[in-house]
Amino acid sequence: MQIKTYESYDHLSNEAARMAADLVLQRPDAVLCLASGHTPLGVFRHFVRIALETGLDCSRCRFVGLDEWVGFSPEQEGGCLKILTEYLFNPLKINQHQIYFFQGQAADPQAECRRVNENVAGLGGIDFMLVGVGMNGHIGFNEPGTPWNLHAHVAELDETTRSVGQKYFSQETVISQGYTLGMEHLKAAGQAVLMASGSGKAPVIRQALEGDVTAAFPASIFQTLSNGVVMLDVDAASGLTKTT
Ligand code: F6R
Repeated sequence: MQIKTYESYDHLSNEAARMAADLVLQRPDAVLCLASGHTPLGVFRHFVRIALETGLDCSRCRFVGLDEWVGFSPEQEGGCLKILTEYLFNPLKINQHQIYFFQGQAADPQAECRRVNENVAGLGGIDFMLVGVGMNGHIGFNEPGTPWNLHAHVAELDETTRSVGQKYFSQETVISQGYTLGMEHLKAAGQAVLMASGSGKAPVIRQALEGDVTAAFPASIFQTLSNGVVMLDVDAASGLTKTT
């Protein structure tokens, strides 16, 4: 695991976007898995800017969904696909056939997880996986206590995820389950990037990087990842000791 710290959220976002853009330049059919939520929005903005400014050809890359709220339609406000569509896919004119996401309204959740696992395997795995971290340490919707040997699965969302998640909706929304890729996908990714910004995440980052390595705190898996890069702004890194 490598840890990189940047002086601002904007600088952090620009660097993460450049990593993804460099990969697409070298490998135009790269498989990218990008978290939604608030943290990566700056990455999407910079990635779109870089792609448009440099004429980066994104017509062959593939995008795999990290997670989705169970029961959500693709257009539903606060949905993971909806966020990616608005901030990345539409500005870049990404074609539907390049997008491999969970269908939140799938009739058979277990079959949906199998379908996504087969998609990821059929694509040859994920080259670049960008994840955020929840206030409970979750990665995607791998909630505290979830074993690290899973692929796609349906998660029961814990109380923190249900309440913090309300920030994505303009009115109170019931969220009780989520589809998510599993830690086996993170371990197998070419590059696994954890991104965090702001002082609110400082205790989470400290526990993830300096606390026990345990499934009880999912982000601590990064301590074990040779493919792992943790990218932080100074505020998110402010709880780390000098020896980290
Ligand atoms: C969203 C996701 C979540 C978020 C995490 C942090 O697709 O996978 O694990 O990355 O909850 O969310 P933000 O970035 O909004 O603080």
